[in-house]
Amino acid sequence: MAETEAWQRVAALADIAPGAPFGAQYGERDVVLAVHDGQVYALAGICPHAYALMCDGFITGAEIECPLHAAAFELATGKCLTGPAGTGDLAIYEVRIEGADVLIRSCIAA
Ligand code: FES
Repeated sequence: MAETEAWQRVAALADIAPGAPFGAQYGERDVVLAVHDGQVYALAGICPHAYALMCDGFITGAEIECPLHAAAFELATGKCLTGPAGTGDLAIYEVRIEGADVLIRSCIAA
């Protein structure tokens, strides 16, 4: 069973340039937004390894790379693909586009 939180506007669609991570806030949480192949993705904005800001990282294809120790995460799933031992995955958020706005919400497994 999953519990969802409310949709929140976190950015204008025009704010997110393809290939460049964009930092935003979801309540008090840092998130990072990215566009790849016309799809917008939203993930936790703090690397679980040593807390680097993912908005300072790099988009490579369908992955986002941490700026500090180069852990790579899949945009669609948040799964850590490579990186320092013990690096966990990034939480992902549901994304909805409404006109010129990007809305996201978290989905919490219960
Ligand atoms: S802080 Fe992200 S890989 Fe180390």
